[in-house]
Amino acid sequence: MDRIHIRGGNRLEGTIPISGAKNAALPLMAASLLTPETLTLSNLPHLQDITTLANLLAQHGVAITMDGDAGKDGHAGRTLSLTATEITNTTAPYELVRRMRASILVLGPLLTRAGRAKVSLPGGCAIGSRPIDLHLKGLASLGAEIELGEGYIQAVAPRRLKGAHIVFPSVSVGATENLLMAAVLAEGETVLEGAAREPEVADLVRCLTSMGARIQGVGTDKLRIQGIDQLGGTRHEVEPDRIETGTYAMAAAITSGALELLGGRLDQIGAVAEALTGAGVKLVETNRGIHASRSDGALTCVDVTTGPFPGFPTDLQAQMTACMATAEGASTITESVFESRFAHVPELTRMGANIKLKGASAMVRGVDRLIGAPVMATDLRASVSLVLAGLAAEGETTISRVYHLDRGYERLEEKLAACGADIERVREKE
Ligand code: EPZ
Repeated sequence: MDRIHIRGGNRLEGTIPISGAKNAALPLMAASLLTPETLTLSNLPHLQDITTLANLLAQHGVAITMDGDAGKDGHAGRTLSLTATEITNTTAPYELVRRMRASILVLGPLLTRAGRAKVSLPGGCAIGSRPIDLHLKGLASLGAEIELGEGYIQAVAPRRLKGAHIVFPSVSVGATENLLMAAVLAEGETVLEGAAREPEVADLVRCLTSMGARIQGVGTDKLRIQGIDQLGGTRHEVEPDRIETGTYAMAAAITSGALELLGGRLDQIGAVAEALTGAGVKLVETNRGIHASRSDGALTCVDVTTGPFPGFPTDLQAQMTACMATAEGASTITESVFESRFAHVPELTRMGANIKLKGASAMVRGVDRLIGAPVMATDLRASVSLVLAGLAAEGETTISRVYHLDRGYERLEEKLAACGADIERVREKE
C-alpha cells in the first residue's frame, strides 16, 4: 500500500486547480440509468470512486466511453459518455457495492426505469452505521415493494411508481437524490419536503431538468417533481468540488500560505468562509476562483458545529480540527451529522495536538507546533486532515493507507508539491 511522506514547515504559495465534485459526479453518473439516450458528463475528477461506479453501471448495461480532455489550467477533467440503451442486469453485487456505499444511488433509477432492483446493503464505514431507512421508506411511499434478505435489498415496482408527498424526518443527501431520480419517471406528482439543499443535489436537479425532467424548487428544501414517461440525454459539466475547495483553503491557513483555488466558488462554502474568516484567514473572490491566505499573525480558534447545507459541512470537520489544533486559544468542534467522525483525533494527538473528545464534540486547545509522526488514514476526510497537519508539523510525517485519499482527492500530492509542499508518495511493495 502506498504511503505519503511530508516534511512540514513550508509555506504554500501558488495556484491549485479545483476538480469536479466527487459527490456531484456520483449521482449524476447514476442518472444515466434513467434514459436510453446518452448522458455526457464533463469535468469529472480522476478518482477511484468514479471508476468503481463506472464498473457498477457497466454491469447494469450502461455503455461508457471516456475521453480525458485537458481541461482549462492544464488539469485534465475527464469526460464520460454513458448510454443505458436498456438495463440488462438489475443486480448491484456485494463485491462492487462494498467498495463504495454511494452505489446505493442506483436503487432509485433501476426501480423506476426497469421496475426492479437487487442492491447489496452498503454497510457502515469508519464514520458511522450509515443506515438507509429514509431511502427505503421513501421508495415504498412511491409504491415499491421492498424486502431485505441475505445482505441484499430486493425492490420491485409491480406497477409504474406513483408520485407521493414525502416528508423527510431528517436531512439525507443520498435519500433526496435516490427519491428525486425515482420520481422523475413516476406517474404524477411527487413532493420531497425536508429535502437536502447541498449544491450537489442542485447540480443533479439541473442535469435532470436538462434531460427533460420537470422539477421545481432547486436549491430549496422542497422539491416538486411531475413525472414524465421518458427522459432524454444531455451534456452536463460537473460543478467544482466545494469540499476540495475548503480543504485547500485550510492548507493555505495552516501553513500561513497564499493559494489561488482555480474554479473554487465562495457561494458554495459560505459557512466555511465565515469560520475561516473568523479564524484569521483572508478569502477573496478572483475572476478565476478564490484567493485564500492567512493574514498576518497566528490562526485564532473558532467554534464550529457541522450541519446540513448551508451549515458547516461535515466533510470539512476533520480538516478544520487540524487547523484549530495549531491555532491560538480553544475551539469546540461539534459533529452533528455522523455519530462517529473523530477517527482523525487520536492520530492528530500523536502529532502533539491537544484534543479531548466529549460526546459529539472535540475540545481543541491550540499548541505552538505539531511534530511529524507516522500516522494512519482511516477514512477519506480524516486522511486529508492528517496531510494538513503534516504540512504544518515540524519534521517528517508518514501517512499510511492513503488509498482512502485516492477515493476523494485527485492528484493531491502533485497539487500541493506544485505550491511548495515537501510531499511525495512512496509506492510500497504489496
Ligand atoms: C453524502 O453521504 C456524502 N456522500 C457524504 O460525503 C457526506 O458526508 C454526507 O452526504 C453528508 O453531507 C456522497 O454524496 C456520495 P446522508 P450520505 O444520507 O448521502 C443519516 C465524503 O466524505 N441517515 O446525508 O450517505 C446518516 O446516518 C462522504 O465524501 C439515516 O439515518 O449522507 C447520517 O447521520 C462521507 N437514514 C445523516 O443521515 C438514511 O436513510 C446524513 O446522511 C440516510 C441517512
